[in-house]
Amino acid sequence: MSFQPAPTRSANIGPANIGPANIGPAHTGLANIIEAEHLGKTYKIGKLQVPALIDVSFAVKPGEFVSIVGPSGSGKSTLFYILGGLTRATTGHVRIDGVDFAALSDGERTRMRKTKIGFVFQKFNLLPTLTALGNIEIAHEIAGAGEPLDRNRLHELTEMLGIGGRLEHRPSELSGGEQQRVAILRALVTKPAILLADEPTGNLDTKNSEAVLSMLRHSNKTFGQTVLMITHNPEAAAFADRTLLMRDGALVEPELVGP
Ligand SMILES: Nc1ncnc2c1ncn2[C@@H]1O[C@H](COP(=O)(O)OP(=O)(O)OP(=O)(O)O)[C@@H](O)[C@H]1O
Ligand SMILES: [Mg+2]
Repeated sequence: MSFQPAPTRSANIGPANIGPANIGPAHTGLANIIEAEHLGKTYKIGKLQVPALIDVSFAVKPGEFVSIVGPSGSGKSTLFYILGGLTRATTGHVRIDGVDFAALSDGERTRMRKTKIGFVFQKFNLLPTLTALGNIEIAHEIAGAGEPLDRNRLHELTEMLGIGGRLEHRPSELSGGEQQRVAILRALVTKPAILLADEPTGNLDTKNSEAVLSMLRHSNKTFGQTVLMITHNPEAAAFADRTLLMRDGALVEPELVGP
């Protein structure tokens, strides 16, 4: 299989309306909290090579809320895994708060991930043997710097997400949308500097989508959390400060895509 590399394009940094007042707690004061530089990813399946990302470069400022949209198979989840240090890029670099993932040992990368990044996975990744509350508590224990779980915040998030009565249930006893909301709560309760969310409203109806998006916005504004949200839904994307578009593994400038 062969492919033509797309011309190099980098998405511009969006409106310069993010001031120091919005900088998150775990941030070191650099201009960009996320930097992706010429990222490429090729999956190898036997002799077949699948190019999933092609020369992707962009930067996100601390406290920005950025959405990434693009058709199925355009490389959004691949980018998500690479930005979160869960998969290695074939080429290029990711810097989180100025630190290059590739320069870290596996242990250091894991520590960085746990302390700085909250994940909402497209497939939820809840632990099946634990209840919803158990999933939330263990995530906090892993990420937390020995601080007790903020029960008031847990209660507030639970109410906002409408899953108050479901916390004692295991994932198999919850609907897809309920599991998704538990996964979102699990990521937010640790107050990470960066929240990476892959289709956080993918399984939700309009009412719950709005609740989730308002909550992401609230977290972003109140705690200065940087949010990078992948979505198929244009209405969800509109919640962000700016939107990056992906096509066939590359970022494209909005003006090249057309209405
Ligand atoms: N582990 C893998 N091994 C081989 N190919 C893969 C793997 N993961 C993804 N791909 C391929 O890479 C491309 C990008 O996949 P990716 O999951 O990043 O797309 P996506 O934009 O997240 O799609 P969706 O909107 O459906 O979630 C696709 O062609 C996919 O088939
Ligand atoms: Mg995906």
